[in-house]
Amino acid sequence: MATTTLAKNHSGVFKIGGDMPINRLGFGAMRITGDGIWGEPANKEECLRTLRRVPELGIDFIDTADSYGPEVSERLIREALFPYDRVKIATKAGLARIAPNVWIPLGRPEYLRQQAILSIRRLGVERLDLWQLHRVDPKVPENEQFDAIKSMQADGLMRHVGLSEVGIKEIEAAQKYFKVATVQNRYNLADRASEDVLDYCEKHNIGFIPWYPLAAGDLAKPGSRFEAIAKAHNAVPSQIALAWLLKRSPVMLPIPGTSKVSHLEENVAGANIELSDSEFAEISALSKPKR
Ligand SMILES: NC(=O)c1ccc[n+]([C@@H]2O[C@H](COP(=O)([O-])OP(=O)(O)OC[C@H]3O[C@@H](n4cnc5c(N)ncnc54)[C@H](OP(=O)(O)O)[C@@H]3O)[C@@H](O)[C@H]2O)c1
Repeated sequence: MATTTLAKNHSGVFKIGGDMPINRLGFGAMRITGDGIWGEPANKEECLRTLRRVPELGIDFIDTADSYGPEVSERLIREALFPYDRVKIATKAGLARIAPNVWIPLGRPEYLRQQAILSIRRLGVERLDLWQLHRVDPKVPENEQFDAIKSMQADGLMRHVGLSEVGIKEIEAAQKYFKVATVQNRYNLADRASEDVLDYCEKHNIGFIPWYPLAAGDLAKPGSRFEAIAKAHNAVPSQIALAWLLKRSPVMLPIPGTSKVSHLEENVAGANIELSDSEFAEISALSKPKR
């Protein structure tokens, strides 16, 4: 397939927090680390090439976290892209890492502030464009975590703030402390458990960042109707999964993650696929939301 850049008119622009425009297809930078999202990637040069290709293809929004590596993803983003030009970098904190594949919620206010300051230092910026609470820590009172975020934003550490893996109740509780600019929950064709949160975000113009966006699950089985739609667009299932997400809502900001230039290019081509209204309706019916 020929390499294509992101067709802005199709996937469109979303203004994070009402004033930070980004193209709706972003890049997830979790995969540019070692196995178990731990340590250096097996092929650092290919990861750097992938990162440099991101803005060349028209993507101007990158999602990362202090805990990816930890530190490795933020460091490589700086190495490849500093001073970032028009690319906005979103990072997160709130998960401690003590081993590969181990993620422990840690929402003590002093820890969250330390990690935001370290992200600022690693990325080499004066202020983070978007900082997201990776998890609400059940061991720490929710109001203490939200109050910490409010003061970090007031102190100028971050322009916009968001949450990850939350329900509507938590979003509404957080909004008493700060404006929730984005919500990042797992959401894809095979897992639509966050359908209510997505609808809430659309109603309140909050950016919804679906992680694990490429999954199509059982839908993509050979011989399925979904497979036929993919074939009609000369596409693979993950590309249709992305095209479906982008059509699902104007606040949808998918961040497919890869460590390879060829996969990045394939994902951009997927975002450029325009599903017809009837194809969209058919796929939506095949992947019923789980509630
Ligand atoms: N908030 C949270 O709790 C949370 C949790 C998980 C992830 N995230 C964020 O969401 C982003 C995306 O999530 P994700 O990485 O879990 O899921 P994903 O983007 O749906 O899938 C990534 C996986 O698919 C592969 N891949 C990517 N493009 C491909 C292509 N065109 N063809 C074949 N394989 C392809 C990647 O491997 P290759 O490297 O080999 O391409 C990687 O293993 C992450 O990068 C991260 O920024 C957030």
